[in-house]
Amino acid sequence: MVAIAFYSITGQTKKFVLKTGLEAHEITDDFPKHEMKGEYILITPSYQDFMMDSLVDFLNYKDNKKKLVGIIGCGNRNFNDLFAQTAKKLSVTLDVPILYLLEFSGTNTDVKNVRNIVNELSEGENTEEVEKPKEMDGKISFLSDYR
Ligand SMILES: Cc1cc2nc3c(=O)[nH]c(=O)nc-3n(C[C@H](O)[C@H](O)[C@H](O)COP(=O)(O)O)c2cc1C
Repeated sequence: MVAIAFYSITGQTKKFVLKTGLEAHEITDDFPKHEMKGEYILITPSYQDFMMDSLVDFLNYKDNKKKLVGIIGCGNRNFNDLFAQTAKKLSVTLDVPILYLLEFSGTNTDVKNVRNIVNELSEGENTEEVEKPKEMDGKISFLSDYR
């Protein structure tokens, strides 16, 4: 199975990950510097850039950035153009594809779709073969405080 790391501030993303039943590492503010041993997918909520320091610390630790193969973004569509902004910004900043976008803790369909994506990647499919979300059109900026 391809590994998963996730970050969650108010618990929605964590709830989603638990619903999938997939094994995952939780990135925490107390201990963001955890080394991923192999390729992994990041599941992240979206907030203003300054709220994502722990995520940036995690990504900058050892080879975590290099081992990241795909991003799943969580957010709230009421944010319109800023929907899933963290996932989108990380995708262009690190040149890693977004595999899926969802709201809050996800629907049953989201759970099913993400399980399928993880299974397909684990069976050796390429991230290129995963259908990309429609919301990727338009202008996307880089994560402003990425260091
Ligand atoms: C202060 C604040 C800012 C947010 N900014 C965004 C945003 O820019 N884009 C977005 O899609 N969702 C935004 N959200 C919604 C969260 O990303 C969404 O509720 C997510 O499911 C929260 O995940 P978490 O509970 O794992 O932290 C914001 C929520 C809060 C409270």
